[in-house]
Order: sequence, then structure tokens, then C-alpha cells
Amino acid sequence: MKLFLDTADINEISELNQTGLVDGITTNPSLIAKSGRNIIEAIEEICGIISGPISAEVTATDYHGMMDEGKRLAEIASNVTVKLPLTSDGLKACASLRSQNILVNVTLCFSTAQALLAAKAGASFISPFVGRLDDIGSVGMNLISEIAEVYSNYNYSTEILVASVRSVQHVVDAALVGADVATIPPKIMLQMYKHPLTDKGLADFLADWKSTGQSIL
Ligand code: E4P
Repeated sequence: MKLFLDTADINEISELNQTGLVDGITTNPSLIAKSGRNIIEAIEEICGIISGPISAEVTATDYHGMMDEGKRLAEIASNVTVKLPLTSDGLKACASLRSQNILVNVTLCFSTAQALLAAKAGASFISPFVGRLDDIGSVGMNLISEIAEVYSNYNYSTEILVASVRSVQHVVDAALVGADVATIPPKIMLQMYKHPLTDKGLADFLADWKSTGQSIL
């Protein structure tokens, strides 16, 4: 399973990239706003750090505007993945950009029907938002299972990128249902390392080791 970081914060990206476990990055207009950076400069900098897919979202809502913005973003680097909203114009732009070999991540997916259309439009990634569905009393992860089943029935190559991740359990559940990617906030990636028995076990081993008076080197 691939792990992407869901942030536009360069410091967080540089630090977590040192783990060797970051496969890509997703951003959205809210994350760019939070970073305080110019979108072109921020995406360029991120592409210089991470070689995997870097999602950068258009803000136009009409087909021609999305095409112009998408092409501008894709010019930044070959790993830029143009993020388009799941609307009729968005899926039209998806098909056109894909025909020019530009990677596309279709975002704001909240139903299996939407995911089916995105796959038919040739999306490289579909981003269903599990946390926002949980927020309104649905079970977001059920959507991931349904999309996985539909995509497998027809061998669609669109990768399921689980977005709006709010917990370590979301990442585990996404992996259990076979999602291709989870994009996770940096603080959740750090939480994934943690288990109290790991901390306790390490403390016990080190105490016992100290009592031997030995040193390996
Ligand atoms: C990433 O692609 C999405 O834009 C992001 O995961 C949305 O997360 P949120 O629902 O926490 O804003």
C-alpha cells in the first residue's frame, strides 16, 4: 500500500521524507492556504523533494478553465498529478488531460456511482473522502469497499486513494479492504509508529542489557 502525505507544509514533507516511507503528496486549496505559500512555488519545491505523484488542485470550475490551470500545473514537473473535482466538467477535463498523458486525481468523491464515472473517464486516482462521510453519520470505509469491488469487477486501473483520513484506524481499514493509497496528515503518520508495548518492551530490554555490563561495539 502506498502512503501519501496530505499536506503542503514543506518542513513536514522534508522531515517525514527522511523515513523513506513517503510515496507521494496530496494538496488541496485549503492546504495551500494554510501553508501561506504561492501554489506554483510550493508545488515546485515539493516536486524537488518527493519523486512520487504530487497532487495539485485546480480552482476553476468550468472545463476550459480547468484545462488551462491543469496544463499550467502539469508543466511544473512530470510527477504533478492534476486534481480535479468530481463534476461533469471535471470528468471531461480528466479525459482530455489523460489523453495528453497527464496524471489526474479526481477528488471530492462521495459515492460509488461517482467513482465509476471517474474510472470511465480514465482517472489515474480516485479520492473518496472517508472522514467527511463519517462526519455526517455515514461509514466512509464502506464506500472504499464498494469502489474496490466495482473496480475489480471491471479491471479498472484507476487507483483508490483514500482521503480525508482522520485516524490510524482509517489507514488500517483502508489497507484491509485493499485500497491502493492512503493520504494521511503528518501527525497520523507519526502515530502509526506508536504502540505502548513497543515503548515498554524497549525500556525493559535496555534495563536488562545495562545489568549485563556488556557493549556490542
Ligand atoms: C486530499 O486529497 C483531500 O483533499 C483531503 O484528504 C481532505 O481532508 P479533510 O476532509 O480532512 O479536509
